[in-house]
Amino acid sequence: MEFGVWTKGLATLTVDCLVLGVFEDAKLGAQGGSVDAATGGRLRKLLTRGDFSGRPGETLLVADLPGISASHVLLTGMGPAKQLHRRSWRKAWSAAAGALLRTRIASCAVALDRPEVKELDDYYLGRAVAELTGAALYRINDLKTARKPPPHALKKVLAGPMRRAAAGERGLAHGEAVAAAQSVQRDLANLPANICTPTYLAEQARALAKRHASLRVRVLDEAAIRREKMGCLLAVSQGSHQPPRFIVLEHQGAGKKLPPPIVLVGKGVTFDSGGISLKDPPGMDEMKFDMSGAAAVIAALTLAAQLRLPLHVVGLIAAVENMPGGRAVKPGDIVTSASGQTVEILNTDAEGRLILSDALHYARRFHPAVVIDIATLTGACVVALGHHHSGVMGNDQALVRDLLEAGQRADDRCWQLPLTEEYGEQLKSNFADFANVGGRDGGAITAATFLGKFTQGLRWAHLDIAGTAYQSGAAKGSTARPTPLLADFLLHRAAR
Ligand code: BES
Ligand code: MN
Ligand code: ZN
Repeated sequence: MEFGVWTKGLATLTVDCLVLGVFEDAKLGAQGGSVDAATGGRLRKLLTRGDFSGRPGETLLVADLPGISASHVLLTGMGPAKQLHRRSWRKAWSAAAGALLRTRIASCAVALDRPEVKELDDYYLGRAVAELTGAALYRINDLKTARKPPPHALKKVLAGPMRRAAAGERGLAHGEAVAAAQSVQRDLANLPANICTPTYLAEQARALAKRHASLRVRVLDEAAIRREKMGCLLAVSQGSHQPPRFIVLEHQGAGKKLPPPIVLVGKGVTFDSGGISLKDPPGMDEMKFDMSGAAAVIAALTLAAQLRLPLHVVGLIAAVENMPGGRAVKPGDIVTSASGQTVEILNTDAEGRLILSDALHYARRFHPAVVIDIATLTGACVVALGHHHSGVMGNDQALVRDLLEAGQRADDRCWQLPLTEEYGEQLKSNFADFANVGGRDGGAITAATFLGKFTQGLRWAHLDIAGTAYQSGAAKGSTARPTPLLADFLLHRAAR
């Protein structure tokens, strides 16, 4: 896809299609008004016929209007004019991009009215155009044997109206990279667990590092993991025939003298059956998405490398399969983590925190500036927040605030849950330093509390993406969250 900006002269732009916003009750905004004037009022006339109301998500393609160079105009609903904000703008362009891809239109200019907010300044406008175009273009890497539909015709998208073209162009370049990273995450997460195994994830990390000079990769196999004394990770893995992998993917983009890195830690459970504490059958297939955190880490490093961000970023991925079996870990088993602390595994389905605990401990050797773990960790987080916000907790409020703000800017939001010491009571064990579960109440928080036992002295935050990383039902699939949030976090750090 070729991206660019337009700054003025919509009527004479040489593109196939102008994309215009229509507010509810069929009202044209300033951009639509200028095009309407060039057509001698034909657009307004069409709208007064009542065929298009301007509701969000609605689109209408019109051809051969007089007075403009473009052969087509695509109208897209913006909702009520008074409520125009970043999200309604995004929804309108998403719907339009989807509609364009179902036509033979090859080039278009995005000319929706812009809300006057800093979250949609020239830079973020460009970023949103490219990012949402990329999302609309995404096709699941499915294994259907029927013939694929013909490829789309769209080749060129111009974003506008822009005040400063340079800022818009920078936004477009970043948005394209965010979209590419999102595709990486989606492709990995959507694959079934018989293909996307721990070994496969390690191979993908290796292949990625081959493509980018700034990336280094190291993969620990089972023997190396044992040498690191990662007893918690190994306990989860021991019931599976798939060997575990511990992946270290490093982006060195900050010059020779490496600053303390941003360490991203991903939960890579390629399938979570629950183990001996077996899950209920309904929806168990969705536990192939339990490596979404790992996929997000690989995606974030792809972005850092592609944009050559002047940062030092380390990705750590604990990749395992959680299965029942004769060798599987059992409720009541006690294991020793890499940190030396002992854990009573009361529920083998609380495996994410076990593998993360060893990964978080491994992070210490990098003397990190910050550590962020990303995990589809708890059903309780889904109960608490639903599917709109990821959960965020941590021991460093400045870092948590940075993540909250990045999510806000990227339209990939998270919401903070408390992480105060009282919750520690629930993890008490009679037999080990602590248990791996703390009962049903406050389950997202007790899970984070468990992780907190391994991050003392580190600046650490935890993103629980159980409710946001994938969708169920007819649109089942990875959402590529929280890649936009992580991308914004990295881009922001790179700029400061
Ligand atoms: N991978 C699950 C969490 C999950 C649940 C992700 C639903 C996405 C949707 C995690 O490993 C798990 O099983 N957690 C248990 C913890 C419990 C045993 C304390 C849960 O949430 O039920
Ligand atoms: Mn589980
Ligand atoms: Zn899990």
